[in-house]
Amino acid sequence: MEYHFKDFTVIQNKQKALTTESQHNEKRQPLLFNQHIAADALRLHKTIPGYWPTPLLSFNELAEAMHVRGIYCKNEASRFGLNAFKGLGGAYAMFRILCEKLNLDHTAVDFRDFQDEALRKRCAQIHFVTATDGNHGKGVSWAAKLFGCSASVFLPKGSAEVRRKAIEDAGNATAEITALNYDQAVEHCWKLAQEKGWILIQDTAWDGYEQYPEWIIDGYLTLAVEAAHQLEKNVPTHVFLQAGVGAMAGGVMEFLLSYYRKKPPLVSIVEPTEAACIYQSAKIGDGQHHAIEGNPATIMAGLNCGTPCRLTWPFLRDKASFFCACDDVITEEGMRAYANPVGGDATVIAGESGAVTFGLARRILQDDTLRRLFRINEDSVILLINTEGDTDPENYKRIIASS
Ligand SMILES: Cc1ncc(COP(=O)(O)O)c(C=O)c1O
Repeated sequence: MEYHFKDFTVIQNKQKALTTESQHNEKRQPLLFNQHIAADALRLHKTIPGYWPTPLLSFNELAEAMHVRGIYCKNEASRFGLNAFKGLGGAYAMFRILCEKLNLDHTAVDFRDFQDEALRKRCAQIHFVTATDGNHGKGVSWAAKLFGCSASVFLPKGSAEVRRKAIEDAGNATAEITALNYDQAVEHCWKLAQEKGWILIQDTAWDGYEQYPEWIIDGYLTLAVEAAHQLEKNVPTHVFLQAGVGAMAGGVMEFLLSYYRKKPPLVSIVEPTEAACIYQSAKIGDGQHHAIEGNPATIMAGLNCGTPCRLTWPFLRDKASFFCACDDVITEEGMRAYANPVGGDATVIAGESGAVTFGLARRILQDDTLRRLFRINEDSVILLINTEGDTDPENYKRIIASS
């Protein structure tokens, strides 16, 4: 069922209501993105210099004003000094790939073992390649430096120079803005990997390329396990997750549905209208995922992806409660609301891809029809993730200054 509202549209996932309860009442852990995998990712991350759990902010005054029990924001802007969550995936996947290539048992080693000089000499021979709008590339560049490797990063057409430079500055990579769209840039990297013996470390999957993206998603689970621990007894009833290819959203959703399996939250997947590939796939409703053609334009650069991640699509299709497609104005509202909090609530610097869920949640909370649709009431506990800070500082300033 599709609903049209000013500046956004919503699909309620009817299929989900039929399947989720029985799936989550099963005792069996889901095979992917479960608590054991999250524990392994957290174990690795804890040994990396600069690790600490990112803050979970409680917007008490906003929650009171909006008549809900709680509104929480897991703020990933401070993750590893990278201004975005993506380094979690790059670091964990690189660790697993290096263990595989160097014949190390990944359960027996961690980052500290990679300080060994002989091991670093072997790592120095290994070169990674990836295509990215920015944040994943920054994570790969940073992780390459940590592990003593190198990387080449290719950005799609229209990427901001500031994002390209941030990738090079973050670690040990060269970064180039191409004339290709995101999917073409991925193909270019895949070809380069074949020709030059580089390792493609891409955060989306396709037939025959699934293990490395799976490890990237496993790495994202650290933010989810941290949030679950930080929430303590405040069990979320509603989780809003932004999606580009849906790798982060799918992994984090799976983890949270398994962690809170006795009382699973309603999960909403939020995308830019122009690049809403998961939304469109749900709308077509044939069970398959579908790509968006052309060069979609949105200020949500990290969410500007045309093809859903095939690893997480089946989970999103079957278990998300709502799919939402938002115009840029929604994230602009979210960015300004994070920057100008209610009363004594914390201020958050949130970038274009980080703030869209807050912008949407605020619209929903202020409208009775929408509250009913999303089943929000005075007992609701809302969890949001700010996935990036001001990764494009000039644009950030311009948006915050406008109204
Ligand atoms: C800041 C930010 N948030 C969210 C996402 C979405 O992640 P995914 O592509 O896994 O859906 C990205 C992706 O690059 C991102 O950079």
